[in-house]
Amino acid sequence: MQKWIMSGLFFAACAFAVILMFTLPGKEQVAEQNNPTMPTVKADPAKAEATVKANCITCHGDQLQGGVGPNLQKEGSEHTAEQIYSIVTKGRGQMPSFNDKLAPEEIANIAMWLSEKK
Ligand code: HEC
Repeated sequence: MQKWIMSGLFFAACAFAVILMFTLPGKEQVAEQNNPTMPTVKADPAKAEATVKANCITCHGDQLQGGVGPNLQKEGSEHTAEQIYSIVTKGRGQMPSFNDKLAPEEIANIAMWLSEKK
């Protein structure tokens, strides 16, 4: 009788482990969240400017001269497009995350646009 209980518990534990294996985020998913990969998009400077005007200038200033957030006029000397993509996607400090406000392609486009400002 005891043996049945033990093996029952053993199988339940195994089943639980298998479920965990499939539901816990894999290493790659976690890496993706910490360091999102920038999609390749065709640069569209006019659209980038419009997106930045609509989303960023309240904090970074209408000439990107800075305000609540830092000056972005020479952002390309500070960060690469990939780094800017990551900062805008995830947010950092007082800077909000734009993960659910902008499409990855839109963020990639403004990241490329900003990275050219040197
Ligand atoms: C609510 C205010 C706010 C908004 C809106 C905002 N930012 Fe920021 N941003 C900040 C702050 C504050 C920082 C400094 C973060 C820190 O201290 O790490 C920052 C930092 C940054 C940086 C890093 C600058 C550096 O050289 O370290 C980039 C790039 C940036 N923002 C881009 C953007 C873009 C692009 C948008 C629009 C999609 C945007 N931000 C919208 C407040 C804002």
